[in-house]
Amino acid sequence: MRVDVIGGGPAGLYFAILIKKSHPDADVAVVERNGTDDTFGFGIVLSDETLANLRRADEPSYRHIAANFAYWDDIYTRYKGRVMKSSGHGFSGIRRLTLLQILQRRAAELGVAVHYATEDPGVATHLEADLIVGADGINSRVREALAKHLQPTAELRTNRFVWLGSRTTLPGFTYSFRENEHGIWNLHAYMYAHGECTLVVETTDEAFQAAGLRVEDEPATAAYVERLFEAELNGAAVLTNRSLWRQFPVIRCATWHHENVVLLGDAAHTAHWSIGSGTKLALEDAIALHQAVVRHPHDPRAALPHYETERRPEAERIQHSANTSLVFFENVRRFWHMAPIQFNFALMSRAKQVTYENLRRRDATMIAALDRWWAHRVAEDEGIRLPGDFAAPPPMFAPFRLRDMTVMNRVVVSPMCQYCAEDGTPTDWHFVHYGSRAVGGAGLLFTEMTCVARDARISPGCTGLYKSEHLAAWQRIVQFVHAHTDCRIALQLGHAGRKGSTQLGWEEMDRPLAQGNWPILGPSPLAYYPGVSQVPREMTRADIDRVRAEYVSAATMGVACGFDMLELHMAHGYLLASFLSPITNLRDDEYGGSLENRLRFPLEVFDVCRRIWPEERPMSVRISATDWIPGGNTGDDAVAIARAFKARGCDLIDVSTGQTSPASRPVYGRMYQSTFAEQIRNESGIAVMAVGAITTADQVNTLVASGRADLCALARPHLADPYFTLHAAAEYQALGYPIEGAAWPKQYRSGRDQLYLLARRARAEAEQKAGQVRPPKPDVVAEQEVA
Ligand SMILES: Cc1cc2nc3c(=O)[nH]c(=O)nc-3n(C[C@H](O)[C@H](O)[C@H](O)COP(=O)(O)OP(=O)(O)OC[C@H]3O[C@@H](n4cnc5c(N)ncnc54)[C@H](O)[C@@H]3O)c2cc1C
Ligand SMILES: Cc1cc2nc3c(=O)[nH]c(=O)nc-3n(C[C@H](O)[C@H](O)[C@H](O)COP(=O)(O)O)c2cc1C
Repeated sequence: MRVDVIGGGPAGLYFAILIKKSHPDADVAVVERNGTDDTFGFGIVLSDETLANLRRADEPSYRHIAANFAYWDDIYTRYKGRVMKSSGHGFSGIRRLTLLQILQRRAAELGVAVHYATEDPGVATHLEADLIVGADGINSRVREALAKHLQPTAELRTNRFVWLGSRTTLPGFTYSFRENEHGIWNLHAYMYAHGECTLVVETTDEAFQAAGLRVEDEPATAAYVERLFEAELNGAAVLTNRSLWRQFPVIRCATWHHENVVLLGDAAHTAHWSIGSGTKLALEDAIALHQAVVRHPHDPRAALPHYETERRPEAERIQHSANTSLVFFENVRRFWHMAPIQFNFALMSRAKQVTYENLRRRDATMIAALDRWWAHRVAEDEGIRLPGDFAAPPPMFAPFRLRDMTVMNRVVVSPMCQYCAEDGTPTDWHFVHYGSRAVGGAGLLFTEMTCVARDARISPGCTGLYKSEHLAAWQRIVQFVHAHTDCRIALQLGHAGRKGSTQLGWEEMDRPLAQGNWPILGPSPLAYYPGVSQVPREMTRADIDRVRAEYVSAATMGVACGFDMLELHMAHGYLLASFLSPITNLRDDEYGGSLENRLRFPLEVFDVCRRIWPEERPMSVRISATDWIPGGNTGDDAVAIARAFKARGCDLIDVSTGQTSPASRPVYGRMYQSTFAEQIRNESGIAVMAVGAITTADQVNTLVASGRADLCALARPHLADPYFTLHAAAEYQALGYPIEGAAWPKQYRSGRDQLYLLARRARAEAEQKAGQVRPPKPDVVAEQEVA
C-alpha cells in the first residue's frame, strides 16, 4: 500500500505514524513545507480525554508527550480590576514545536519518509498512491483543488486575533479583559513549559483599526500587547513568531473525501481556538481514519465513507461548541455591565459544555459564592433584606417579578397547542393538562396559542377566546390554578395568519385540511407551501382594523378570566410574525418595507391590548429572533424589535426562532436559541425568557445565573414530566440546598417527604461510590524532558 500525506502537522504526522505502525510494509511518505524546527505559534492545550486517546493509539509517543506537559488546575480571570480564581479544571499545555518534534522522531523511528522543507507540487502528482491524505491545514490546497467535489465553505469571523508568546510565569490559565480608548481586548494566556507562555490576544476589528495596528507589523503588535497586559505578564517582553492579526475562518466541507483523497484536521474543519480543540481534532481524526483503514486492509478507498460517517458527528459537535464559544468573545461588550462573578460564570459557561453543575463539581466554593451573590441580587431587586446567615437556593429557585406578578421560580411551562378544543372551547383534557402542570411546581404556566377569532385558528382543534363558552372554560382553569397552586398563569393570544386552516399537530402539520378549509389572511399573498397551502388574502385596511379589534375583544375576555399575564404570539410565522419578517411581508404600504414599517401592525396590536390589559399585570411578546433564512430577520433585528416593544410597555420577550417558512434552516443543539435570548437581554435591557432544547435543571441554573435569561421555558420536557420542577427541588435539597421556590400541594406532602428522603439516600450512595472508584492521577513524569 502506498500512502501519501500532504502536510506534516499534528494530523498528517500522527496518521503516518499509526498507519506505518499497523502496516510496516506500506510505503508511507509525508511532504512538509517547513523544516523540523520551524513552525508557527507557541503552545497548545490538550485535555485529559485526548491524552487517554493518544495513549491507546500509540503508547511510545504518548509517553513523550505526557512527559513534556505543563499541567494546571486553576483559571484566573481578570476583569474590571478584580482577579477571580476557579479551580479543578485540569488542562495540559505543550510547546507546539515539541509536540511536532516528538511526532517527527516517532515517524522516523517507524520508517515514515518525511520530506521536510518541500512544497507539495499538488494533489495531481500523487495519483499513483492508494491513499492521499490532505493534512495541509487551514489553507489546504488539497481542499481547494477538489473544491468542486468537497464543496468547502469558509465563514470569516469578525474578531481579530494574534498568537504570541512570552517568557514569564503564570499562576494558571489566565483570561484578562481590559478596556482602553480603542475598545475591549481579551488575553488568553497559559504556560506550556516552565516560564514559557502562549498568549492569544483578541479584539474587535473596530478596536484593532482604532489602535492603528497593522496585520503584519509584529514589533508594533508586541509593543502594544506588552503595554496593555504589563501586569498579567509581570512586565515580561512579548515574543512573536509569524504573529499576524487574523480573522478566524470557520471551515466546513460538504464531504471530506473524494475517490482516494481524504482531508484531516484543519483542512477539513476548523474549531475556534478558544476551546483549545484544533490539535485534539487533528489527532483524533488521524486515529479515526486509521481505524477505518485497518477495517478495510485491501481497499483504503472503501474506508473513507466509513471514516466520515463515524467521525463527522463528533467533529461537528466540537465545531458547534467552538462556534458557540467564539460568539462570547465577539460580543464581550454584551456582558460588560455584569458584576465580576457573573461575568466570570458567563465566560466559563460560554460554550454550554461547562455548566452550573459541572462547575460545582470542579469548584464548589465558586458556585457557593455565585449562589450567594445571585440570591442577594434577586433580594435587592425585590426589596427584600436577607439575614447574614442566609442560605442561598440554586438560581432557578429564586423568585422573579414582572410588574405586580411574582413567580416563585424561573421554570416556565412553554405554550403548547393541544389540538383538541371543541370550536375553540377548552375541554376536560385542558383542565387536567393545565391543572397538573400547575401542580408540578413551575413558576409560570402558559396557555397554548389561543386564537382571537374562529378564522384565526391554526387548526380546528385550537383553543380560542371569541365566544362566551370560551371565557367560562378558561375561567375554570385559571381559578383552579389560583386556588390550588402557587403557579401563575399567562394567556398566549395569537392569529395563525397564513399558517391557519391546517391539520392537527399529530396529522400533517402545517398542511391544509382535507376539507372544510376557511379563508386565511397574511400581509402578502404568499402560500406557506407553494402549490400546497392556501394562498392568504393580502390584508386590507378593513382586515387590519378587524383583526386589531379581535385582539382587544380576546384580551378583554382574558382579563375577565383572571389570567396573570398576557403574551402576544408574534413568532413562528403566524400572522404578526409574518408582518415582522421581510421573508413573508412584501407589502409596499406603511405596513411593509423597513423594519419600522413591518413593526407597525404588531405594535398597534400591542398598544390596543396594553391599553385594556390591567396596568399591574405584565405583558410579553414571543418573537422569532431569527428566521434562519438569508435575508430574513437576524439577532440584530430582534434587538431592535425588542427595544420597540419595551418602549411600548412590554415587560418580557419570549425568545423563540424560525418556523417563518419551510426555508428556515435552524442550527439545533442544546439550548440552541438561548444565544438570541442572551443578545436581546443584554443589548436591549429587557427581561427575556429563553426556550428551546432546555431539558435539565442544570441548564436552567446555567442560563439564569450567567445572565443569559431571566426565565426558562420548557415545552416537551413538561409533556414527559409535569413535575419537572418538583423533581429538581428533590435533587437540590439532597445536595443540602434550601428550596423555597417549589411549592408542593399539601395533599402531596407525604409523597414529597419520601421523594426527598430517597434523593438524599441516592446522593449519599453516589458519593460513596464515586469515592471508591476515583481514577488515579495521570502517570505523568514530573520532570520535563527536552524534546
Ligand atoms: C491562535 C491559535 C491558538 C491555537 N491554540 C490551540 C490550542 O490551544 N489547542 C489546540 O488543540 N489547537 C490550537 N490551535 C489550533 C491548532 O494549531 C490547529 O488546529 C492544528 O494545528 C491543526 O493541525 P493540522 O495538522 O490539521 O494542521 P497544521 O498544524 O496547520 O498542519 C498543516 C501542515 O501542513 C503543511 N503544509 C501546508 N500546505 C503545504 C504544502 N502545500 N506543502 C507542504 N506542506 C504543507 C504546513 O506547513 C503545516 O505544517 C490554535 C490555533 C491558533 C491559530
Ligand atoms: C406539542 C407542541 C405544541 C406547541 N404549541 C405552541 C403554541 O401553541 N404556541 C407557541 O408559542 N409555541 C408552541 N410550541 C413551541 C414550544 O412552546 C417551544 O417553543 C418549543 O417546543 C421548543 O421548546 P422545547 O425544546 O422545550 O420543546 C409547541 C411545541 C410543542 C412540542
